[in-house]
Amino acid sequence: MEPAFWQKRWADNQIGFHQARVNPFLQKYWPRLQLAPGSRVLVPLCGKSLDLAWLAGQGHRVLGVELSRQAVEAFFHEHGLEPQVVQQGAFEVWRSGDVELWCGDFFALRVEDLADCVALYDRAALIALPPHMRAQYMRLLLQALPAGDGLLLTLDYQQELLAGPPFSVADDEVRLGFAGWQVEALEEQEVIGESPKFQEAGVQSLVERVYRVQF
Ligand SMILES: C[S@@+](CC[C@H](N)C(=O)[O-])C[C@H]1O[C@@H](n2cnc3c(N)ncnc32)[C@H](O)[C@@H]1O
Repeated sequence: MEPAFWQKRWADNQIGFHQARVNPFLQKYWPRLQLAPGSRVLVPLCGKSLDLAWLAGQGHRVLGVELSRQAVEAFFHEHGLEPQVVQQGAFEVWRSGDVELWCGDFFALRVEDLADCVALYDRAALIALPPHMRAQYMRLLLQALPAGDGLLLTLDYQQELLAGPPFSVADDEVRLGFAGWQVEALEEQEVIGESPKFQEAGVQSLVERVYRVQF
């Protein structure tokens, strides 16, 4: 997906992916990772997710990366925070307390930017990308992240019935893409009942899968 696609989604307020509550899988499974207080969590393609604030509330330093300045601004505004903004290389970094949102292209991240990220939270990041970009995304994480632990949420459905995003990401693709990491499926849920857009397209099964990824 080109940056312009996402900028337009934000400009038109077409942000059906944004959740009005903290993700229940995050709340359920994050404690299992037993991360040390203060450990830094990478949240790629973070939007203005409430999960960012929840992670900071768990004692983490949070590094979110997001293309849309509108999303970044909205996050701080909606949480009543007054961030400091500095230019850092290819990114405009917005910072308040333990939350840093790097406004810019995820693919411009350098290995040294992620050197102290020992945790990863991906909800609607991998599945926001078409296949060739997913491969690039997984390669970047494999190369740049030091040892750590994380959660990844995916959707799996018959891709030919609907154009993404969100894109379908099969279990095989996750395991191949993150070869070298320990990938464990923690739970899967059939969510077609809650997804009218998918039902209208004739999709009969929409599986949301939660993975723990240890790297
Ligand atoms: C499907 S949304 C998910 C947002 C968030 N993870 C959530 O759960 O609400 C994908 C987000 O990724 C952002 N995005 C897309 N491509 C990006 C890129 N190359 N670099 C940084 N952000 C990107 C979009 O602007 C959008 O906010």
